[in-house]
Amino acid sequence: MTRTMALLLLVVGLAATSTATATFTCNSNATCRSLVGFHPSTLTTYGAIADLFQVDLPSLLGANDHPAGTPSVGAVQSGALVLVPIRCRCLNGTGRSDRTPLYTVQAGDVGLLNITAVWFGNLTTYQDIAAVNGLPNANNIEVGQSLWIPLPCSCDEVGGEETVHLAHMVDPGSSVDAIATEFGTTPETIISLNGNLDPTQLQAYQILDVPLRACSSSISNTSLDYGLRLANHSYVPTAGGCVACSCSAATYRLECSQSGVSSVCPSPATCRPNFFIGNTTSTSGCTANTCAYAGYTNSSAAVSVLTTNATVTRTDCNGIKYLLYYLLHLQFLSKNTLSLSQFYSL
Ligand SMILES: *[C@@H]1O[C@H](CO)[C@@H](O)[C@H](O)[C@H]1NC(C)=O
Ligand SMILES: *[C@@H]1O[C@H](CO)[C@@H](O)[C@H](O)[C@H]1NC(C)=O
Ligand SMILES: *[C@@H]1O[C@H](CO)[C@@H](O)[C@H](O)[C@H]1NC(C)=O
Ligand SMILES: *[C@@H]1O[C@H](CO)[C@@H](O)[C@H](O)[C@H]1NC(C)=O
Ligand SMILES: *[C@@H]1O[C@H](CO)[C@@H](O)[C@H](O)[C@H]1NC(C)=O
Ligand SMILES: *[C@@H]1O[C@H](CO)[C@@H](O)[C@H](O)[C@H]1NC(C)=O
Ligand SMILES: *[C@@H]1O[C@H](CO)[C@@H](O)[C@H](O)[C@H]1NC(C)=O
Ligand SMILES: *[C@@H]1O[C@H](CO)[C@@H](O)[C@H](O)[C@H]1NC(C)=O
Ligand SMILES: *[C@@H]1O[C@H](CO)[C@@H](O)[C@H](O)[C@H]1NC(C)=O
Repeated sequence: MTRTMALLLLVVGLAATSTATATFTCNSNATCRSLVGFHPSTLTTYGAIADLFQVDLPSLLGANDHPAGTPSVGAVQSGALVLVPIRCRCLNGTGRSDRTPLYTVQAGDVGLLNITAVWFGNLTTYQDIAAVNGLPNANNIEVGQSLWIPLPCSCDEVGGEETVHLAHMVDPGSSVDAIATEFGTTPETIISLNGNLDPTQLQAYQILDVPLRACSSSISNTSLDYGLRLANHSYVPTAGGCVACSCSAATYRLECSQSGVSSVCPSPATCRPNFFIGNTTSTSGCTANTCAYAGYTNSSAAVSVLTTNATVTRTDCNGIKYLLYYLLHLQFLSKNTLSLSQFYSL
């Protein structure tokens, strides 16, 4: 009897220690867009997930690069991975979702541990929910009560680059090396980001801070969507749905265009007459000029879209250089003064 109880206590204690630290380091004093990798515990839909996390459906679809027309009743299987965009706020060295999502306790929710397991895919801990909501007892909750569910996130740059932090749940049998390969980072980066984690002690279902390289953008710090960060293979509607931005690994530069379909959207923004957001001048060198999206404001309830002239590196630059090299080489074949690598470094 006592042995069973001791064992039980041990099991509960272990479960608590292995999950008590689901918050990420965040030393910048910032807010930004961050991601959590959600695995629903039951069959659900995109619409239900958007409601649960209080994100708009188009942003949820864009984070997963699903077509914008995907219906809200589109099924999501139990255990499937859905990337959920959240607004992250850093405070006192810790990043948490910024006072969202708010969850209303329902009949059948037997405590905070049950709520995080049943509804939030174990992305946070009952200890953290209790702490941020000022609840002394994790089992003393009432139907109808509103709870802030603090999700782990960060806005810190990694290796001097803007980064989208992903709260990633470790699959059984996975390793730090495998996770680093999957998400295009290094084991050392994951280890240091996660409090010098010992890779031999990695546990299934542990939540790791995994950095994804963000597309660089020209969004001004006065814009309402400052801190908008996208990782490879995702898109987002912004500026109240008037602008759509996407990120691809081909350039790692935020590519935006003004969709402006609705009546609340301003007329298409330009950098100079007839040079719209997303337009690029063709130049012969390795750089091009583009009219970049610089964010938006919403004064007197009217959305204004901001622009800025930006210089970008052409993706076809090496191709052009190679052609030039080839032509030069034909011309001065006998002189043979320049190697290909020397030429590229010009
Ligand atoms: C962080 O931001 C808050 C609110 O904007 C400000 O009051 C505080 O001084 C900032 N702290 C640091 C260390 O920059
Ligand atoms: C941040 O940390 C300081 C010192 O540790 C503490 O006094 C303050 O209450 C904390 N602020 C919040 C919002 O937790
Ligand atoms: C949550 O509580 C319900 C009872 O209300 C129970 O059926 C369910 O198994 C619990 N789930 C978890 C993961 O604790
Ligand atoms: C969450 O963790 C509980 C154990 O604490 C487990 O029973 C449940 O299956 C987990 N749920 C998800 C969605 O991972
Ligand atoms: C905003 O950016 C400008 C220059 O781009 C900089 O001078 C200013 O300090 C920034 N403001 C804040 C609050 O970061
Ligand atoms: C970008 O995303 C696509 C699709 O998810 C993937 O196939 C590709 O490997 C990614 N590229 C990088 C560099 O992460
Ligand atoms: C702009 O402001 C109005 C009124 O405050 C608000 O209803 C609307 O949602 C805002 N739009 C955006 C895109 O922030
Ligand atoms: C972009 O540059 C042009 C000159 O090439 C200038 O007339 C225009 O005002 C600039 N636009 C912005 C938004 O800075
Ligand atoms: C410039 O951008 C506008 C609006 O997105 C688009 O309709 C037009 O085709 C673009 N022009 C060029 C030359 O790319």
